[in-house]
Amino acid sequence: MLTVALPKGRIADDTLKIFSEIFSDDFLFEDRKLILQKGNFKFLMVRNQDIPVYVTNGAADIGVVGLDVLEEHKPEVVRLLDLGIGKCRVCVGIRQNEELDYSLPEIKVATKMPNISKTYFAKKAIAANIIKLYGSIELAPLVGLADIIVDVVETGATMKQNGLKVAETIMDSSAHLIANKTSYIVKRDEVFNLFYKISNIVKS
Ligand code: PRP
Repeated sequence: MLTVALPKGRIADDTLKIFSEIFSDDFLFEDRKLILQKGNFKFLMVRNQDIPVYVTNGAADIGVVGLDVLEEHKPEVVRLLDLGIGKCRVCVGIRQNEELDYSLPEIKVATKMPNISKTYFAKKAIAANIIKLYGSIELAPLVGLADIIVDVVETGATMKQNGLKVAETIMDSSAHLIANKTSYIVKRDEVFNLFYKISNIVKS
């Protein structure tokens, strides 16, 4: 039995499609249910940022999570495979009528990714005051909470609708398959069996 933690939303749907294809069966969560048991798999519906917590603690053997979350939290997990779904970018955003001005004595940055942001601005030797938020990041520059944001951009619609634009791209991201370190050893056969099946689907 393998327990697989999936992030709520489109990535979960796309991952379950991969499972449906492999096992020629429907893999669908019932309305509002957070656990789906099917054959030798148990799927957990988890918030994106919480996936590494479930996997590092062994509550899930396998997880699907964005590279952005892995880079932000640097969890002790085995990175198995890039699934090539859930593609997005981590970007610096600014008000549409402004340009980046890193010569300011300090720049206020709102983000839910403080570690990626700190590393990025430190490398550029820019004094950044990082303001940690949990969502609706695009709001911060509109009400004077921050000068710029660091956030995930998928279609760009949220920034556009809020009068912001991408100023720089920090990294590309996509959903990755990860494994708990102990499960990777103890359930090696099951993990590898799944890994190979998913690899074949993802590559084709
Ligand atoms: C992300 C991100 C943006 C939005 C970008 O939030 O923080 O708000 O998606 O997508 P777009 O470029 O297609 O408009 P998400 O919906 O993942 O919610 P979260 O804040 O709960 O992580």
